[in-house]
Amino acid sequence: MAQILVIDTGGQYCHLIARRARQAGVQAQICPPDRVGELAPGSRGLIISGGPRSVYAPDAIRCPGLFEQRVPVLGICYGHQLMADALGGRVRKGAHREFGEARLKIVASDAILRGVENDAIVWMSHGDEVQSPPPNFDVLAKTDDCRVAAMASADRTMFGLQFHPEVSHTPQGNTILKNFLFGVCHCQQDWSIASQISDLQARIRSEVGTRKVLFFVSGGVDSTVAFAICSHTLGPKRVLGVFVDTGFMRKDERSQIETAFAQRGWNNIRFVSAEREFVSALHGVSDPEKKRLLIGNCFLEVQRRISRELDLTSGEWMLGQGTIYPDTIESGGSQQAAKIKTHHNRVPEIAQLIRDGLLLEPLASFYKDEVREIGEQLGLPGEMVHKHPFPGPGLAVRCLCSDDQHPVESSNELRQLAGSGSGLDAVSVPIRTVGVQGDYRSYSNVVLLCGDADLDTYGQIAIRITNELPATNRVTFLVEAAKNAKIHSAMVRRAFVTRQRLDLLREADAIVHAMLREAGLAGKVWQFPVVLLPLSFDGGETIALRPVLSTDAMTARYADLPMELIRAMARALLALPGIDAVVYDVTSKPPATIEWE
Ligand code: XMP
Repeated sequence: MAQILVIDTGGQYCHLIARRARQAGVQAQICPPDRVGELAPGSRGLIISGGPRSVYAPDAIRCPGLFEQRVPVLGICYGHQLMADALGGRVRKGAHREFGEARLKIVASDAILRGVENDAIVWMSHGDEVQSPPPNFDVLAKTDDCRVAAMASADRTMFGLQFHPEVSHTPQGNTILKNFLFGVCHCQQDWSIASQISDLQARIRSEVGTRKVLFFVSGGVDSTVAFAICSHTLGPKRVLGVFVDTGFMRKDERSQIETAFAQRGWNNIRFVSAEREFVSALHGVSDPEKKRLLIGNCFLEVQRRISRELDLTSGEWMLGQGTIYPDTIESGGSQQAAKIKTHHNRVPEIAQLIRDGLLLEPLASFYKDEVREIGEQLGLPGEMVHKHPFPGPGLAVRCLCSDDQHPVESSNELRQLAGSGSGLDAVSVPIRTVGVQGDYRSYSNVVLLCGDADLDTYGQIAIRITNELPATNRVTFLVEAAKNAKIHSAMVRRAFVTRQRLDLLREADAIVHAMLREAGLAGKVWQFPVVLLPLSFDGGETIALRPVLSTDAMTARYADLPMELIRAMARALLALPGIDAVVYDVTSKPPATIEWE
């Protein structure tokens, strides 16, 4: 029985809370809201996750019996509001939505905040707020926009936090969670990756039985580690890796993988070229969700064909995937979670394989850093295990499309938000990019700032704009543009995924990553998408640079690379034929996702 139950009220960070507990060595389990009464008595503490709904809405998730349990309870975000509402406090829509960074003002010191500095950075993602706490509760902290950011019951068994202590962008969040786990709940430390590997191997053996497993390996960390743990557990003769070249790979990726795998002595991998098929499947398609779906279906087509060619007769084989926790969560994989975006690992055909018991996802309950640790413990080389993540649909989701021509837009409100105190100009670019606001995904416009400022100022303006303008989830600034380019006359052009655009993007991506490595900064950023936008200043297109810092991809902050390096990258990119401008993304996640689609 888990020591800590994390009650899933639909928030995308629900599993992250359990993971933080595991990192602290405490066994934690996700619990559906309707099973609290049954499971809570054996646990030492309950944590209520955040969630997308309002506690006063008809579809609010209630947790029957939750506040009658005789164990300590910590409510986070929606959990905090649920606690306030259930126990007689008042929750209403806040005057300001708060997404991203805020500063915690501690008004009463308490054991749950032990070790947390006044003015600490905390990560917010909410529209509703607790206006008054329940009777017999003390307010422990506030922020500029939130009057009850932390509260506790008088007997100190119930605690509520409006911010997210579980995300890496609340730097002292772990201290707060540990205060709850050890100081309040008196948990013991009995969980580790080493203990998980033997459980994982036992699970693989029992799920696979006497069958064999086919993996489509991409060279990325997840599929490599999944393939390796299965080869290691079942023996290479029962595991086959197929590398499909989709045409959405990076420059020289296939040859690098070929060499790396051959050097490891792995001869259970085959290579298949399917570039023409994938690119033509996306002909004339601009909708980001549709692109992902078509790519997922195309993978399945190729997989079926390969299965037939290899005579992988049904019953003898299973399909293995390197799906990890965030992949399943962000497609609504947690029982209550709102759908953030369709992951290609979760298209309907894959869902059918799951129902038929033909899909093996050995890493589905692990996060990226845990997967890397498993890889290291299996003896995989560092350069393989520490590679930047790369999305399965590859450069296709970094090659943005538009099915029509649109001018950029501007408004007084946007100009005021961008310009006040900084003198920057701004336009809204009608390119749909994906973001995550609260617990819902959003597709909205990108703002382009123009004028000189430092990175921090651009970042502050980005927070202001995304908080105030709901139709914007991403903000960039113009680094460099072709001579005489004017942002107000820039145009979004009609464009789709083509071989020519992919080649241009591949070249741009190779230039940027080579410069990042030369600057010795590859290990400092979590991931660095380079994105091609059909935004034209002078007949060509625009490159967006999106380097981010993260520890688990659930939240991220734009990377503050040295401005000289950013400018040098932009100059190198502008020398490519067909590139008019280079912009730099200064939005955190939330409200923007790491990838632009
Ligand atoms: P977002 O864009 O949602 O991405 O912030 C979070 C992490 O997931 C990666 N990603 C994917 N990985 N297949 C994958 O294997 C996908 O379809 C996919 N989409 C996003 C993304 O690169 C980031 O590391």
